[in-house]
Amino acid sequence: MNPTSGIAAADRYIADGYLQVKGMSSRFAAAIACATMRIQSENGISGHVAEIGTFEGRFFIALAHALQPGERGIGIDHFEWPDAGVIDRFKASLAKYGPTDDRVVVHKADSRQMKAAELLALAPGKRVRFFHIDGEHTQDHLSKDLALGYAALDPKGVLCLDDMLHPGYPTLALTVDAFLRAHPELRVFCVVDREDIVAAAKFMICREEHVAFYTDALMQAFPHFVWPLGADFVAYKALVLAPVPRLAEI
Ligand SMILES: C[S@@+](CC[C@H](N)C(=O)[O-])C[C@H]1O[C@@H](n2cnc3c(N)ncnc32)[C@H](O)[C@@H]1O
Repeated sequence: MNPTSGIAAADRYIADGYLQVKGMSSRFAAAIACATMRIQSENGISGHVAEIGTFEGRFFIALAHALQPGERGIGIDHFEWPDAGVIDRFKASLAKYGPTDDRVVVHKADSRQMKAAELLALAPGKRVRFFHIDGEHTQDHLSKDLALGYAALDPKGVLCLDDMLHPGYPTLALTVDAFLRAHPELRVFCVVDREDIVAAAKFMICREEHVAFYTDALMQAFPHFVWPLGADFVAYKALVLAPVPRLAEI
């Protein structure tokens, strides 16, 4: 059974609407991402949500349901793939399943051309507390999207990266590794395991001083999904949350 995030509106959408909206992220990852936002809200961490690669809105709508009053969901996509109708389908999904107040800001742009100041000007007054990076899976795109996301991030915020360890994009991890080497103040604190080859794994990254805070809270929230061995990042270990956290029988 899929876990719940603890945010009623997000959980209703993840249970009933999520799979009706075309997209690629898993329901498991959506529940964990929204729970991470709940944990932030409960601990006074405020800010916007942003997503590069909104597509038809599947994951973005879940995140938007986890926002607090005054916070905004900033959805960025060039909205040209697979055809120009994708932005209308995104807006229709939002009207049907999403928060229908003014919290969502849709921005049609090539993320590689965007600067953090431009992104933050879309919703002035706060930085981004949860940034989902799910655009094009190339070294060029991901390195620029990581730089943009980090430059817009709240100091206590989370960068969430899609399609990590995906068999179709084996070199993406090298781009993430280069980014982490350039930013030794950051750590992957959680690997959210895949559901299948389409709904692949995500990394969640924060500043080192907040790792224990996020890890402890997620372990408490999802005790039945903790994979006991953790993720070996050589210099440290990260939490692994898996839909089926089994170990090999030896
Ligand atoms: C895999 S889809 C995202 C799926 C969605 N986040 C989900 O979880 O269901 C990738 C999206 O990234 C968008 N994209 C690719 N390159 C981009 C760029 N340079 N700027 C903005 N959006 C981009 C594509 O248009 C596409 O909608």
